[in-house]
Amino acid sequence: MKKLRVGVIGAGSISFAHLSAYKASEQAELHAICDKNEERVNNKAKEYDIPNVYTSYEELLANKEIEAVSICTWNNSHAKIAIAALEAGKDVLVEKPLCKTMEEAYAVQDAVQRTGKKLQVGFVRRFGGNTAILKSFIDAGDLGDIYYAKASCLRRLGNPGGWFADSERSGGGPVIDVGVHVIDLCWYLMGRPKVTSISGNTYKKLGNRPNITTLDFYKAADYDASKNDVEDMANALIRFENGASLAVDCSFTLHKKEDELSVTLFGDKGGAEVEPELHIVGERHNTILNMNPQVNEKTFNFETGFQAQVDSFITHCLDDGENRSPVEDGVEMMKMLTGIYESAKQQKEIHFD
Ligand SMILES: NC(=O)c1ccc[n+]([C@@H]2O[C@H](COP(=O)([O-])OP(=O)(O)OC[C@H]3O[C@@H](n4cnc5c(N)ncnc54)[C@H](O)[C@@H]3O)[C@@H](O)[C@H]2O)c1
Repeated sequence: MKKLRVGVIGAGSISFAHLSAYKASEQAELHAICDKNEERVNNKAKEYDIPNVYTSYEELLANKEIEAVSICTWNNSHAKIAIAALEAGKDVLVEKPLCKTMEEAYAVQDAVQRTGKKLQVGFVRRFGGNTAILKSFIDAGDLGDIYYAKASCLRRLGNPGGWFADSERSGGGPVIDVGVHVIDLCWYLMGRPKVTSISGNTYKKLGNRPNITTLDFYKAADYDASKNDVEDMANALIRFENGASLAVDCSFTLHKKEDELSVTLFGDKGGAEVEPELHIVGERHNTILNMNPQVNEKTFNFETGFQAQVDSFITHCLDDGENRSPVEDGVEMMKMLTGIYESAKQQKEIHFD
């Protein structure tokens, strides 16, 4: 069986999800790994039994044996590494967000077109089991025309600090880190209409709440409570060319009773919730029906979601299978993410042609 020889660039927290998924695939071979942190990359190479170890991504890309790479580095390096990888003849799975700016997004798109190599953006929620189930209902017309979606990813105490809280390396706070997941999930299920306008607000009111010591939360390796320049909360209304709209809010910190993850879609024939658990609403014989799909997982399963994403990338590379998260979607998503920040900065709605 043909195996895809893979290199993973970035050996931090999320790399385990990529490494484990490649390791579990019979169609992939973990050939190389890179991180500028030597101790971290050596530990990961040992853990996953990876023969070639690098502290420079340029050196990894010069390895002719490698056919494809996963990019799991900070957001500010995604575009640079993706373009270099494509130019070195590698196919690319790049973690979300595609990059930090529109300029970078177009440069990556140009590199994909120029090199003819493949690039998949890490919109992992598209690969959730319940996403696939709901999509089959949507494709069959059960929701009709989806004209409104609403998504929240609200943490009351969850600014991870480190590079996540450094806008130079991250590009922003909850919008670009967690908002991207729920915006993309809605947009994908809405049929990916083109965005026409955005009205957004960002707030820096609570900071990272270092005064709260009674609750634990995930912290980046280089967490330092004194360093944080990203927004702590944002909301936005996004309009699309088909008249549909999407309302979203997300936070790292907020005075809220509990954290919330919710994703809801409304069509002219039915509605649905994907998070916090799959639910479908319909109407039959003049009666409203709340339908409770009997499924294995109520919410997104990280492990199977990542496996499905990586399996899909491998099939795309080896067999020219469908690319479920092409670069064009990464570019349109960057329009939405940077559009929220731009609208908030200008304090007015911004429009796209
Ligand atoms: N899909 C998801 O659910 C999900 C979840 C978490 C993070 N992510 C994304 O994954 C990426 C990494 O996040 P993380 O949580 O693993 O961060 P992390 O800080 O734990 O790991 C990032 C690693 O990249 C390395 N690195 C940075 N720049 C580099 C460069 N130029 N060359 C080599 N190594 C470099 C760092 O040394 C670090 O070890 C981010 O883009 C983030 O948005 C996605």
